[in-house]
Amino acid sequence: MAKRFHITTFGCQMNEYDSGKVEQILAPVGYSKTEEIREADLILINTCSIREKAEQKVYSLLGRLKPLKERNPSLLIGVGGCVAQQEGSRLLERAEFLDFVFGTHALFDLPEIIGDLSSGSGSRCFTDFTYRFDRPEWEKVKPPNKKITALVTIMRGCNNFCTFCVVPHVRGREMSRTLAAILGEIESAIQTGTREVTLLGQNVNSYQSPDGDEGFVTLLGALNRLEGLDRIRFTTSHPKDLSPELIECFGRLEKLCPHIHLPLQSGSDSVLKRMNRKYTFAQYLAKVQDLRRILPDISITTDLIVGFPGETEEDFQQTLEAMRQIRYDGAFSFKYSDRYPAKASGFSGKIAESEKARRLTALQALQNEITLERNRRFEGRMEQILVESRSKKHRFQMSGRTGGNQVVNFQGSDSLIGTMVPILIEEGLLHSLRGRPATPASGGNAPWH
Ligand code: 5AD
Ligand code: SF4
Repeated sequence: MAKRFHITTFGCQMNEYDSGKVEQILAPVGYSKTEEIREADLILINTCSIREKAEQKVYSLLGRLKPLKERNPSLLIGVGGCVAQQEGSRLLERAEFLDFVFGTHALFDLPEIIGDLSSGSGSRCFTDFTYRFDRPEWEKVKPPNKKITALVTIMRGCNNFCTFCVVPHVRGREMSRTLAAILGEIESAIQTGTREVTLLGQNVNSYQSPDGDEGFVTLLGALNRLEGLDRIRFTTSHPKDLSPELIECFGRLEKLCPHIHLPLQSGSDSVLKRMNRKYTFAQYLAKVQDLRRILPDISITTDLIVGFPGETEEDFQQTLEAMRQIRYDGAFSFKYSDRYPAKASGFSGKIAESEKARRLTALQALQNEITLERNRRFEGRMEQILVESRSKKHRFQMSGRTGGNQVVNFQGSDSLIGTMVPILIEEGLLHSLRGRPATPASGGNAPWH
């Protein structure tokens, strides 16, 4: 009989992608996905530990699953992802009804793991680093794709060891997928309606196809030629590796969206050094200037951390000054938190929570001012919008994005979903833009380049 699995996903876009991939990985062994946890034969939890103390969330979810297991002893429950990689067998000790723990590399071995467990091997922990992605049997499985915008992981792991970050410890070293596998996945997504793709990797600039010498710029060029694909995005690029060739792509590849996410983390050189970021603020700024020379209106977003160990008020002021100078379109900002075994968890000079909170509030207030000002620059302009869905907040409005990644809401009908429409922007707000469909009299199509 066909079996069902349910998956709960915490955290980042990469986990979102992995959880989608599980559908493909498990289909050849007879599992299909269900949204109803009570009817599942297999329950998976895909975890993330990059910033939060995620263990508590996992244990509380497991607590709620215990009665299901008691009612149905043949139900299998597994915890995967970064928390699983880190906690390993501790999870099995604390939740004795848990069947298995699978680390970040074992996602791809799920069919074998489940086969073993179903034959009664007892609870197990699979946390070796043995990536084996893209197996031929998955290529045949095309999960139903109704997504206008698709996420595609192109590489995994990270070699950078920023001192605040747990990723290299829980995801291992960098490993790229083959160019052929990536192109194949995107081509099949296009056939089922995808118009925009976001390439995911901890540091996409280091992408290197394992079966050839193609790098990231070659991959972008190949995608730019794909018929039926309208937009290409990527995240994340490490500033130290943002090459002149990649910067130049923004002026050359018409499908590459005019947006880059370029995490600064701090505006202070001494903090950047202790973070092991391997660039100074001046070097970072020079790259921003190069980007703006190529594409003056490019949207730039960033990640910022406040309260890194030893961060002085002066260091913090330098971060605010960097924001004023660069004028980001948006910023994800975080209070530093210890992530064992990342190196900074052992640094002295830890900042009090209340002080981190104060700095974060001040930083976010400044960024809100800048974001609003940046969003207002669109007022009166015509923008090409890829329509993604009906607006969640306003029932009679449609929602899409500009090339620069700003959300745009406007009056329209469902028939526009998946199409590119010119919208006249009437108002720039803090979290979105409001516009109306352009009539021929109001200017027609205006490409972003
Ligand atoms: N504390 C706070 N923020 C962190 N990030 C990563 N690790 C930590 C940490 N220990 C943030 C960084 C990174 C983003 C994905 O998460 O800003 O760019
Ligand atoms: Fe973490 Fe730095 Fe790697 Fe990004 S580049 S994943 S912040 S170690």
